[in-house]
Amino acid sequence: MTKDRVLIFDTTLRDGEQSPGATMTHEEKLEIAEFLDEMGVDIIEAGFPIASEGDFRAVSEIAERTKNATICGLARANYKDIDRCWEAVKHAKSPRIHTFIGTSPLHRAIPNLDMDQMAERIHDTVTHARNLCDNVQWSPMDATRTEWDYLCRVVEIAIKAGATTINIPDTVGYTAPAESADLIKRLLETVPGADDIIIATHCHNDLGMATANALAAVLGGARQIECTINGLGERAGNTALEEVVMALKVRGDIMPYYTGVDTTKIMNISRRVATVSGFPVQFNKAIVGKNAFAHESGIHQDGMLKNSETFEIMRPSDVGLSGTSLPLGKHSGRAALRAKLKELGFDLADNQLNDIFVRFKDLADRKKEVYDDDLIALIRQNDTVEDHLKLKQLRVVCGTEGPQTADLTLEIDGEEKSVYATGDGPVDSAFNAVKALFKHHARLQLYQVHAVTEGTDAQATVSVRLEEDGRIATGQSADTDTVVASVKAYINALNRLIVRREKTAPGEDVKGVSYKDVN
Ligand code: KIV
Ligand code: ZN
Repeated sequence: MTKDRVLIFDTTLRDGEQSPGATMTHEEKLEIAEFLDEMGVDIIEAGFPIASEGDFRAVSEIAERTKNATICGLARANYKDIDRCWEAVKHAKSPRIHTFIGTSPLHRAIPNLDMDQMAERIHDTVTHARNLCDNVQWSPMDATRTEWDYLCRVVEIAIKAGATTINIPDTVGYTAPAESADLIKRLLETVPGADDIIIATHCHNDLGMATANALAAVLGGARQIECTINGLGERAGNTALEEVVMALKVRGDIMPYYTGVDTTKIMNISRRVATVSGFPVQFNKAIVGKNAFAHESGIHQDGMLKNSETFEIMRPSDVGLSGTSLPLGKHSGRAALRAKLKELGFDLADNQLNDIFVRFKDLADRKKEVYDDDLIALIRQNDTVEDHLKLKQLRVVCGTEGPQTADLTLEIDGEEKSVYATGDGPVDSAFNAVKALFKHHARLQLYQVHAVTEGTDAQATVSVRLEEDGRIATGQSADTDTVVASVKAYINALNRLIVRREKTAPGEDVKGVSYKDVN
């Protein structure tokens, strides 16, 4: 590998999926991994195999199917985690074990290890991983708040024990660009052997600096960036893949490094990740936001017509956005729909297309022009989550005189049930009806409505986030009727909550494996 090649390590399926409410189904994970592989990501962190049977199965299947990328699994610093991780990744063409331990004072206190005990643990676990796999990544979690001398000491131990990549995580999003560059540069200058392996950067976005910190780390000598699509991830998220990749492409003059990513695939995977994670992309998000290439003001439009470079530093087509897109209508056929969906990055199986086609026709009957965003909203409802609850019928009565009422029929595990409920507004009465038919104690954490396109016949897309016993699930739906979209999003979130298995986050104890013990 040349010195100016930067490896892209995508952790959407691990750090991204760890973000509360972003749980993906097995099929969704396989699909995202395929997208990542096709777009040229170098390493896919596919999950945390010991966390659950579901994670193990997803990592194993991704390992078996992936054609080009290295497949990596996460493991804490104990033999059981590492063995389980190896079991999951070992069938990959190119497997990697990623093992980590928190090295800062606060993190050392969790397993209650002193500096020497932790150093020994790092030596033992990296050696164990390296005896299983030739490709081992080691991370000192919370590296940016770890004492400098101790950080150098443990990085050297990990390299000597056989780590081929050392990742330097800014776990809590605390560092700043100059510091990030300096840290990597000094590590490379100070730690024996650091120059012979890859140094990676893993930044969180708590202060909004994840992209800047990752790029600064590259300037300091890092040659692997860890990132996620749409910046998905714990709390404020991780470095966004699309931002670092495009920044390196557009500003090659001051950052002369390149990646292997096909940037024209960015928009499609961004849409797909937004759909399956239930985390919509903010309109003004860099690169992939709905407004990232929109020029509304007169002066901007005038400049753009004369020369697009007046206000654009990259072309929409660079990230896979086609130019003007003609809407479909009620006379559009199945082939036109398939072609349009393919253009938007949704390559559907025949049965999925049939299902979408029925709903597209229904929408086109109610709405003259069906835009790309309408189709994306339709797809979002075509969830792969098993439907325990299905909406059969809803009638709400609302007006200036309360209370508002809802007549609702749901199919619950194959059996139809109806109820009449009242509430403070149509959505409240409809949600009360859902609660009356399907008893649960999930708490509504978020209820959000957006118009998909302009006009009073626009579809409303609704996101609902529910929390029950610490488990979080997000549901989405769209309909030209806002109350119908709301109820569908609510039951979609309930369906996701029902199937959501117990998951363990890195750092917590997994049943039967204590964070304290190496074995
Ligand atoms: O942010 C972090 O420190 C991590 C580690 C597990 C690498 O995600
Ligand atoms: Zn992280």
